[in-house]
Amino acid sequence: MKIIDKEFEPFIGQDQITVKVKELANLINQDYAGRKPVFLVILNGAFMFAADLMKEIELSSEISFIKLASYEAMASTGQVQELIGLNQALSGQDVIIVEDIIDTGETMAYLLKKLDTLNPKSVEVVTLLLKPEVLQKDIDLRYIGFEIPAKFVVGYGLDYDGFGRNLKDIHQLKEDH
Ligand code: IMP
Ligand code: MG
Repeated sequence: MKIIDKEFEPFIGQDQITVKVKELANLINQDYAGRKPVFLVILNGAFMFAADLMKEIELSSEISFIKLASYEAMASTGQVQELIGLNQALSGQDVIIVEDIIDTGETMAYLLKKLDTLNPKSVEVVTLLLKPEVLQKDIDLRYIGFEIPAKFVVGYGLDYDGFGRNLKDIHQLKEDH
């Protein structure tokens, strides 16, 4: 499949994603039983994952959004921009950050540091995807969906220069050798 100027091939199918999302939600439902966490979703990429995850969450919980960007086209810029800020008081709350993918870890490290100043009761991370080979930050990731190779992916919320977010499956960049 072509997106803008690059060829992508199917990588993680819709059915596999659905199973994994349920697994993650079940773990969270168990771990947070009796608590009322605030899910903090990082826009734009995590919107689809968050929507599916939240439908499986059986806890009394709130959901809030923050918009961060560190990526331009296919590479991390190493700088995190806050495009829409936090409007929710997180002091004393159990916060669960919902992210689509962790690559260098720059974005997550930035957010964790920022949250630290807001005195939440606890902070954990749920990420659908992790690229362990390129992770550069020492961050604690409680819930991880899939560990994947350091190749660019699109679909299920993830984009290539704004496109591909609507795809139901996750596709991987096809390397031409
Ligand atoms: P990090 O700060 O390098 O960990 O990058 C995290 C952010 O970059 C994610 O929230 C995504 O929005 C974006 N990103 C990282 N890898 C990919 C990818 O393979 N495809 C699409 N977006 C990605
Ligand atoms: Mg993201």
